[in-house]
Amino acid sequence: MKYHIDELISQETVEKKIDELAEQINRDYEGKELHLIVVLKGSVFFACELAKRLTIPVTMDFMSVSSYGSGMVSAGEITVKKELDEDIDGRDVLIVEDIFDSGITLFNLRILLLARNPKSLKIVTLLDKKDNHNTEVPIDYVGFEIPNKFVVGYGLDYAQKHRNLPYIGVVVED
Ligand code: IMP
Ligand code: MG
Repeated sequence: MKYHIDELISQETVEKKIDELAEQINRDYEGKELHLIVVLKGSVFFACELAKRLTIPVTMDFMSVSSYGSGMVSAGEITVKKELDEDIDGRDVLIVEDIFDSGITLFNLRILLLARNPKSLKIVTLLDKKDNHNTEVPIDYVGFEIPNKFVVGYGLDYAQKHRNLPYIGVVVED
């Protein structure tokens, strides 16, 4: 397919939003230590920018999962491809996601992590495709609600490309 990429959200706008998210998280976790769980690979760019703006003590761990979006939502539909290095038992955990699309990934990941007894578990997502949700997941912090279009940049890929774009763009077929 021949395509080009149209800018949807500029770098400046994304970074201003991350400033705001970080401010809110710093307030909400004042006096606590926060353990960030970064969902590979797409969330890495967002997670680094967010983490740099946090002033509370932060630790980070990384996980890679794949979900089989058959349309059916059930807790079993997640495969862990890279496990966390550390236990989350008794910790204040924040899942850092790039995008909430159908929600199947976060739905399953949340159940998986809740079973490991964190003290608290919240979710931050940079992007939310509100019209495409297939399931309900409580999301604590949302960057931008976006239309149901395929987006790239800021960590998000199309066939593994364009993760390194410093802005969010829409893939448009020529
Ligand atoms: P879910 O449908 O909410 O489970 O999203 C699964 C994963 O699909 C996300 O974490 C992204 O990695 C990927 N994804 C969903 N929508 C897009 C998109 O518009 N661009 C790039 N990746 C996407
Ligand atoms: Mg992802």
